[in-house]
Amino acid sequence: MNLDLAAYDRDGFLVLKDFLSVADCDALQARAAELVAAFDPGPARTVFSTRDQGHARDRYFQESGGAIRFFFEDEATDQPVALALNKIGHALHDLDPVFDRVSRQPRVAELAEALGFRQPLLLQSMYLFKQPHIGGEVGWHQDATYLHTRPSTVTGLWIALDDADRDNGCLMALPDGHRGPLRQRFHRSGEAMVTDTLDAAPWPTTSPVALEARRGTLVVLHGLLPHASAPNRSGRPRHAYALHLIDGCAEYASDNWLQRPDLPLRGFA
Ligand code: FE2
Repeated sequence: MNLDLAAYDRDGFLVLKDFLSVADCDALQARAAELVAAFDPGPARTVFSTRDQGHARDRYFQESGGAIRFFFEDEATDQPVALALNKIGHALHDLDPVFDRVSRQPRVAELAEALGFRQPLLLQSMYLFKQPHIGGEVGWHQDATYLHTRPSTVTGLWIALDDADRDNGCLMALPDGHRGPLRQRFHRSGEAMVTDTLDAAPWPTTSPVALEARRGTLVVLHGLLPHASAPNRSGRPRHAYALHLIDGCAEYASDNWLQRPDLPLRGFA
């Protein structure tokens, strides 16, 4: 696969137009709709709307690394479930045959190889809804804050399943920001999740760029690249599928939030 690795090294991201076929975009959206239709929102919606259910809510999240779980938008009120979810995560690629097939197609494996992965492992997958009107903001962050290996190898593959632009909350990035330090780590501490500041360096002052992406575009995000997305206040959805890879050659932090004791990580085979 012919990648502009110089641009990736320079910017910390790479935008690959028409990476995913129309048929595969259709397949992921249709499958997500089926999963949502089969999801019984009763208990989970209660979990997420009741303040004193914090412990159950935390467990629902903490165990989602090896499961398919549904998370609501903060601003969701009386919307139907299909218009109220923030995301589905985090093992779609291992537990659902459609997501498995699309995630492990040769083109994605070739991309991982071209990016320099020696032992690529598919760690995490998320179906991101960014719903019309209520799709929440995602603040500036580095993915290595959440998925840590030593050395850092986490790489995001973000695929637009709807056209994404400034109006519906496309990705924003700070070019070259991946050369800075990892600022924070979000990790397990006993039963709890904590965020530690490792380096108080502010985000670079470079102007953010909007990574507008037509449907089927794949954006590669370096694990240390600061990125964000604005809320979606438009009337259009902005569905996306995000897959995070790590290299099996690196050491996976035993206190990462994402632990899969019953579901070994797999590569593309
Ligand atoms: Fe991210």
